Amino acid sequence: MPGTLETRVDEQEKLDLQAIEINLLTEGIYHHYGFDFRDYSQPSLKRRIWKRIYAEGLSTISGLIEKVLHDPACMERLLLDLSINTTSMFRDPTFYLAFRQKVVPMLRTYPFVRIWHAGCSTGEEVYSMAMLLFEEGLYDRCRIYATDINEAVLQRAKEGIFPISSMKENTSNYIAAGGSGTFSEYYVAKYDYAIFRPSLRENVVFAQHNLVTDASFNHFNVIFCRNVLIYFNSALQERVQKLFLDSFENFGILGLGKKETVRYTSVADNYQIIDDEEKLYRRIR
Ligand SMILES: C[S@@+](CC[C@H](N)C(=O)[O-])C[C@H]1O[C@@H](n2cnc3c(N)ncnc32)[C@H](O)[C@@H]1O
Repeated sequence: MPGTLETRVDEQEKLDLQAIEINLLTEGIYHHYGFDFRDYSQPSLKRRIWKRIYAEGLSTISGLIEKVLHDPACMERLLLDLSINTTSMFRDPTFYLAFRQKVVPMLRTYPFVRIWHAGCSTGEEVYSMAMLLFEEGLYDRCRIYATDINEAVLQRAKEGIFPISSMKENTSNYIAAGGSGTFSEYYVAKYDYAIFRPSLRENVVFAQHNLVTDASFNHFNVIFCRNVLIYFNSALQERVQKLFLDSFENFGILGLGKKETVRYTSVADNYQIIDDEEKLYRRIR
């Protein structure tokens, strides 16, 4: 039932005040710690900030501002909340299948392949791609850079130890992704964990990189940035798309997440579509 004019004005005031507080929080974090969440999409930002407020036993955004700015450990915890690290091996298996069928033949013609996984989280995507490249006989000529804003997830990625409970789903994803070996041969089971073969990360460099504030650091033949841009507003998506454009070798391949696209961005004309459904593109200009 619609409220009175007065209650509606109150509600609007609360929302305005919340927007001011969120703005102060993200500005403070940016100036004090250098992490830039100012252009992250608002609804998801708001949800995660409130989650941290309750977890810290606080009741206002202003309370969180004070705590975060004076307590780096609280910033670490908020960073984990804000950086949404959900991932899995061979996530969207048809993406990997399309990559195998449509991109691998192109890569075979290259003497050396530089790959960037931007926003790699705990590394499942990197290990998945390493298996695929290994099976296609390409791994030895690849140099892979796996980056994320969040140092804690990178640490886990470097270890390559994942819960054994996810191996059933990983195995079926691996098969659906066109895996040509036996998935269980890539890891050793120990208690509740699966320890992946260190050789899968032999050609991988894990490093912290912030897509919002850091510059391009190399030129790549392939860039994966899956399920990261969805958390950014359109101005920030534009910035990151330009960063990728600057980071490509000629005819670089871009792989995005299911809900992401280069369409409707200023770089759309720079790409040719390899697979529209799987969000695989090739830079042509
Ligand atoms: C949902 S996960 C996606 C992981 C993986 N790419 C996948 O598709 O399964 C999003 C990742 O983006 C990272 N991220 C968020 N903002 C970032 C930024 N500004 N720079 C680099 N990585 C960022 C988060 O830390 C998180 O690990």
